[in-house]
Amino acid sequence: MERTEVIKPQTLDDLIKILHKIFESDKVNIEEVQDIMEAYESNPQEWSKFAKFDQHRYTRNLVDEGNGKFNLMILCWGEGHGSSIHDHTDSHCFMKLLQGQLKETLFQWPEQESHGDMVQKSQRILVENQCAYINDSIGLHRVENVSHTEVAASLHLYSPPFKQCQTFDQRTGHRNSVKMTFWSKFGERTPFAATLSQENN
Ligand SMILES: [Fe+2]
Repeated sequence: MERTEVIKPQTLDDLIKILHKIFESDKVNIEEVQDIMEAYESNPQEWSKFAKFDQHRYTRNLVDEGNGKFNLMILCWGEGHGSSIHDHTDSHCFMKLLQGQLKETLFQWPEQESHGDMVQKSQRILVENQCAYINDSIGLHRVENVSHTEVAASLHLYSPPFKQCQTFDQRTGHRNSVKMTFWSKFGERTPFAATLSQENN
């Protein structure tokens, strides 16, 4: 079978246009989305207006609402910042590195009755321009910027969009439901009250 050639997005705007087109269809080809996101060559001039860092924890910054089909956002990771172990609410999750590196640790879903350490499946370092993919059938993950000297930024696409996920305690497997909020939307800082409950994904 002939492999379709990947369209190379020339800019972030171009990438967003292509993604809109792909997600018009109800059937998502995971590999196609992953290839196209990977083919975009990160250019900070195109995305820095969305990339707002916080001193204490990583931030979620909304870039595009994908006609209701997906949310595209940039996560900004300061030195040593990381997420909890979390799920993806039955959505597709694509994560592309725009700057720096991130460590992704994959875990198995804990058994309902288990109380011990969660089982780690694998670990990898994601590098600039690489695009990872996860969904709930693959497992759970934790994402971390382990560098003490470099920040990191990643472009995330979630389809369908979701506002809540579950986080997991690595030692016990106990779960919590958390609401997720945006630190900024379309380059504008979200009013303070709205970000109080900011949590992972
Ligand atoms: Fe995630």
